[in-house]
Amino acid sequence: MSNFAIETNDLGRVYKIRGNKKEKQIRKELVALEGVNLTVERGELFGLLGPNGAGKTTLMRVLAGLLEPTAGTVTLDGKDVVGHPEQLWATLGYLPQEFGFYPHLSGEAMLLHLLRLKGVTAPVGQKQLRDELLARVNLSWAAKRKVKGYSGGMRQRLGLAQAIAGNPRLIIVDEPTSGLDPEERLRFYRLLAELAEQRTVILSTHIVEDVAVLCSRFAVIRGGKVLAVTSPSAAKQAIAGRIWEGTVTAAEAAELQRSRQVTQAILVEGRNRMRVYEPNGSPPAGFEQAAPTLEDAYLVMVRSGNGLAGGRP
Ligand SMILES: Nc1ncnc2c1ncn2[C@@H]1O[C@H](COP(=O)(O)OP(=O)(O)OP(=O)(O)O)[C@@H](O)[C@H]1O
Ligand SMILES: [Mg+2]
Repeated sequence: MSNFAIETNDLGRVYKIRGNKKEKQIRKELVALEGVNLTVERGELFGLLGPNGAGKTTLMRVLAGLLEPTAGTVTLDGKDVVGHPEQLWATLGYLPQEFGFYPHLSGEAMLLHLLRLKGVTAPVGQKQLRDELLARVNLSWAAKRKVKGYSGGMRQRLGLAQAIAGNPRLIIVDEPTSGLDPEERLRFYRLLAELAEQRTVILSTHIVEDVAVLCSRFAVIRGGKVLAVTSPSAAKQAIAGRIWEGTVTAAEAAELQRSRQVTQAILVEGRNRMRVYEPNGSPPAGFEQAAPTLEDAYLVMVRSGNGLAGGRP
């Protein structure tokens, strides 16, 4: 059996920005992706973590064969995706960041409509398939309700239902958890993890917890570049012994923000709790060593622009 892997080689994407529609002249070129080398193996639940504007959606669209790169290659099992995306589409389920909706349709009517658009058929018939998909994402109970009355999590689950129609081997989901409340996010995590048991899933997010909960490997992306490809445990291990936590006054907090690499600053019962990353020097007075979180590791990577997080061998 071929090793189902999606791979990019020196992938780049430049957007040409024009002043207005009539203007032919290109005002500016925006580098959205540069030198991206990634491999996602069969059966992985792979995360793409980065801040707003990092290039996540651009990369997801290129991986899905929906947007052509301006440099480099994408292959699926060694076969070119850019020139022949149809091969990929036959095995792909895609949930875009902005999932179009027909608010006046019921959930079941909308899903059926999408199945028809996608041309997904089933031996049991499209209506039966629709019902099975709704059950799969726990929406049977709301099948006849209008989509405009759905919560964010229900909409995302409906989006996932159309993405998994036709039983794709590869699922690409672009920021599916943003806008979900903690309870809905948990439900969505379970569903994704379950789907990933038999499929390759690539998920983009700016929420560190998504990666901590779901992903065995992830890439950190910022400014169109991949800063690191690692696992949650390796990322934490890389900064072990270098995270310090303490309680400070407001004035001290402001000073620490200037002089140290702060990875967390929160109020706990009205007092400033701070965590700082101290790669080699001494920690602030009164601070105690703390176990690193993935959030610490992510912030260190994104700020330093260095995937090694300050000193992995
Ligand atoms: N169609 C486009 N035309 C011009 N520039 C674009 C286009 N799409 C994206 N960009 C720019 O490319 C960069 C990467 O955008 P992208 O949407 O890929 O980031 P993102 O990581 O998905 O961000 P977010 O977290 O906000 O969804 C940004 O600077 C963005 O402004
Ligand atoms: Mg995006």
